[in-house]
Amino acid sequence: MEKPAITLARAVFPEVVERLALHFEVLANQSDASWGPHELAHNLQGRVGLFCTGSERIDADLLAACPQLRICANMAVGYNNFDLAAMAAAGVVGTNAPDVLTETTADFGFALLMAAARRVAESEHFLRAGKWTRWSFDMFAGAEVHGSTLGIIGMGRIGQGIAMRGAHGFGMQVVYYNRSRLDAVTEAACKARYVDKDELLAMSDHVVLVVPYSQSSHHLIGERELHLMKSSATLVNIARGGVVDDAALARALATRRIAAAGLDVFEGEPAVHPQLLTVPNVVLTPHIASATMPTRLAMANLAADNLIGFLLGSGPVTPVNADVLAR
Ligand code: GLV
Repeated sequence: MEKPAITLARAVFPEVVERLALHFEVLANQSDASWGPHELAHNLQGRVGLFCTGSERIDADLLAACPQLRICANMAVGYNNFDLAAMAAAGVVGTNAPDVLTETTADFGFALLMAAARRVAESEHFLRAGKWTRWSFDMFAGAEVHGSTLGIIGMGRIGQGIAMRGAHGFGMQVVYYNRSRLDAVTEAACKARYVDKDELLAMSDHVVLVVPYSQSSHHLIGERELHLMKSSATLVNIARGGVVDDAALARALATRRIAAAGLDVFEGEPAVHPQLLTVPNVVLTPHIASATMPTRLAMANLAADNLIGFLLGSGPVTPVNADVLAR
């Protein structure tokens, strides 16, 4: 029997490509160049599955150009690259890669929080530039992390991981805001108290964003919200570009409206707002929160499990639009 044909939009672990090749006829993007919409559609002709990374936009135009496509498997927990209405209309299943990256991503959220609050990057640049000639009592004095108030916006699995680190590791008072309140057992395990978003912004020493991107979370943090925050506060975004109004944040950092920020995601990435590149009180990383080799391998294998499960008949493991399957 002929193997189903799939396309891998980006380079990935050779062992995962080999695993997929046992079941499928694989077209792999060997050069790892980012394909634009036309190139992606071209490379999907006659193919039933796509292994993608969260950067490839799956919309009505692409689906119309690729009528054979039946599943898009994201090697990412976020799936705002999927136009779910268009996928539902075309009967295309989408899957993501949750759970396997939770702890690794929570670690990185904490790393950015620590680096921004304690001015790690800024002081390191100072040292490397040969500017360190003497000690002084207030040199790069930052904000306390232990015992402070940690506000988490978006209390899914990763938000809960950050809460656990803050409450149990750093003795922080944890408050959170989420579309829906957690059950009492989970709140108690995370030692987290549910508050209103504006209240959270006003009372937190450090605010971490972990919400999925959607129209309703677009610019969740803008000029107004930044003005509600303490002038000593840190903002960390490991959610998605677009959740924060980056231009407003750059102004708030430049004018010291807030003290510091740690950003792993950006509006229009890989482009970064030019003013963010010039302000010293921000730590900038290139969307690497889940980047450890074991976690990235687990994410790739989960995307592969989804393709194998769906196309070979046992069903996808982590579908995001299960309604399409039910038809
Ligand atoms: C990374 O941003 C992911 O969604 O996995």
